[in-house]
Amino acid sequence: MAAPRRTLLKVIVLGDSGVGKTSLMNQYVYKKFSQQYKATIGADFVTKELQIDDKLVTLQLWDTAGQERFQSLGSAFYRGADCCVLVYDVNVLKSFESLQSWHEEFLKQADPAELEAFPFVVLGNKVDVDGGNSRVVSERRAREWCASRGDIPYFETSAKEDFNVDAAFLCVARVGLSNE
Ligand code: GTP
Ligand code: MG
Repeated sequence: MAAPRRTLLKVIVLGDSGVGKTSLMNQYVYKKFSQQYKATIGADFVTKELQIDDKLVTLQLWDTAGQERFQSLGSAFYRGADCCVLVYDVNVLKSFESLQSWHEEFLKQADPAELEAFPFVVLGNKVDVDGGNSRVVSERRAREWCASRGDIPYFETSAKEDFNVDAAFLCVARVGLSNE
């Protein structure tokens, strides 16, 4: 039998400060969650291996700082990305409204060959908070935004309760692969 093909996918995770980017990645890769908030400074990556069909995939997940702006990382950082994950907090309207500028900035900086075809995945995080009673962005509104931006896949997640986290990153790997 032929050795399975190995593929490295570079994934950039963006979104406002505090939406849970680091928490989602820690839950996905280490199965850990912390209530404490420690702002990410600069950017760092973690990796996760998974098998999709006959392919071995290494997801290289780049966590970024919501508090900083793109200029500090430089466009070289975004080049060669295979997928971009945009995260917002369903309980914070501003973080949803910011998706637009994160989306635009990413495309501007990464400058992918085919703008329209570049794969994004959107995560609406913290759906656990107050049993969902404090959410201000409806799933429908989020899905409409995703649909209007070229059918971006959408997942509602909770890094705290490990809800939909595996499914979301599996989708990230799949859309990243399809862009290879
Ligand atoms: P920056 O690094 O500043 O960009 O923030 P971030 O997006 O990485 O946010 P982070 O993962 O540090 O989470 C911010 C706070 O929200 C922390 O106190 C987390 O414990 C909390 N948090 C993250 N995800 C969830 C979630 O799904 N549910 C709940 N209830 N809290 C969460
Ligand atoms: Mg962080």
